[in-house]
Amino acid sequence: MSTTTATNDIPTTEEELLVGADGRFKATEKRLINCAQVDVNQLMPIKYNWAWEHYLNGCANHWMPTEVPMNRDVEIWRSSKLTDDERRVIMRNLGFFSTAESLVGNNLVLAIFKHVTNAECRQYLLRQAFEEAVHSHTFLYIVESLGLNEGEIFNMYREIPTIAKKDAFEMELTAEVLDPDFTTDTFEGQQAFLKNLIGYYVIMEGIFFYSGFVMLLSFHRRNMMPGIGEQVQYILRDETIHLNFGIDLINGIKAENPDLWTPEFQEAMITRIKAAVELEVEYAESCLPRGVLGLNADLFRDYVQHVADRRLERIGLPVQYGSPNPFAWMSETIDLGKEKNFFETRVTEYQTGGSLSWD
Ligand SMILES: [Fe+2]
Ligand SMILES: [Fe+2]
Repeated sequence: MSTTTATNDIPTTEEELLVGADGRFKATEKRLINCAQVDVNQLMPIKYNWAWEHYLNGCANHWMPTEVPMNRDVEIWRSSKLTDDERRVIMRNLGFFSTAESLVGNNLVLAIFKHVTNAECRQYLLRQAFEEAVHSHTFLYIVESLGLNEGEIFNMYREIPTIAKKDAFEMELTAEVLDPDFTTDTFEGQQAFLKNLIGYYVIMEGIFFYSGFVMLLSFHRRNMMPGIGEQVQYILRDETIHLNFGIDLINGIKAENPDLWTPEFQEAMITRIKAAVELEVEYAESCLPRGVLGLNADLFRDYVQHVADRRLERIGLPVQYGSPNPFAWMSETIDLGKEKNFFETRVTEYQTGGSLSWD
């Protein structure tokens, strides 16, 4: 006896609603993609503890850009303390990040979320999506605070060739998954999905963001643009978790679907990462045609190659460059914890449940 509608299989009778009560879902039945056994709303029991840990870590790092005072940055920006070359470095990176953050958010919500069939991973994706919104907010807040030309900044992803090339490299991956015919039911579809995850987590958030982080934090190291510097530190801390989650997800899908990781696919991913390294070096060159703040394009070639090697290793691919890290201080910045007075200029405290009053 069944009254389930033929169109959507939604159980409606008491009998149907209770089906499955004798065989409750087991964590072992959960799968990262293409899971038909376990309802994607079943958060408990958790199987992928790493996803839950990343979610908790993300929540523990909550911040808002408007907490960071920008008065010193405004003062410096309006003074003659910055050269034209230094201003270009700031403008280009604001231009890159202001739209890159929304490209990441869009891909997450429109392309990735639908195909990850696991509740604890989706919980993390929801947290990450909010963080990407905070990051987009940050760049808008910086542009508004400094009184920059919004049209110029937000159109750089189409008008500055080295930014446009990086973004086009990513946007084609989103388009592939958004194609109405796309499915992860096929081998090719599963590989394309893995390619999207590698393209966004490893390349966009793991490589394309890093020259910008170095450039913007270099001002901070010289006591210039401290508000931007502090915001970039928060973003870098968030992005470190995004990258770690992405790597765990990629490696988890590989472990559950080892047939996807063919030698040809591995070769294609190495080629793609090497192409991304060239785009990133070109981007750094276009930001620093004459070198500023002790930075120059040669240092960025080494740095981007060094970063790419670290990312390759973490998804089980051979290192390609063996280049040194010219910016060792970046590792210290990444490791900086909240307990080390990370929020030194924090001006507001969050209300927690315990501090709310109901009078
Ligand atoms: Fe972000
Ligand atoms: Fe991110």
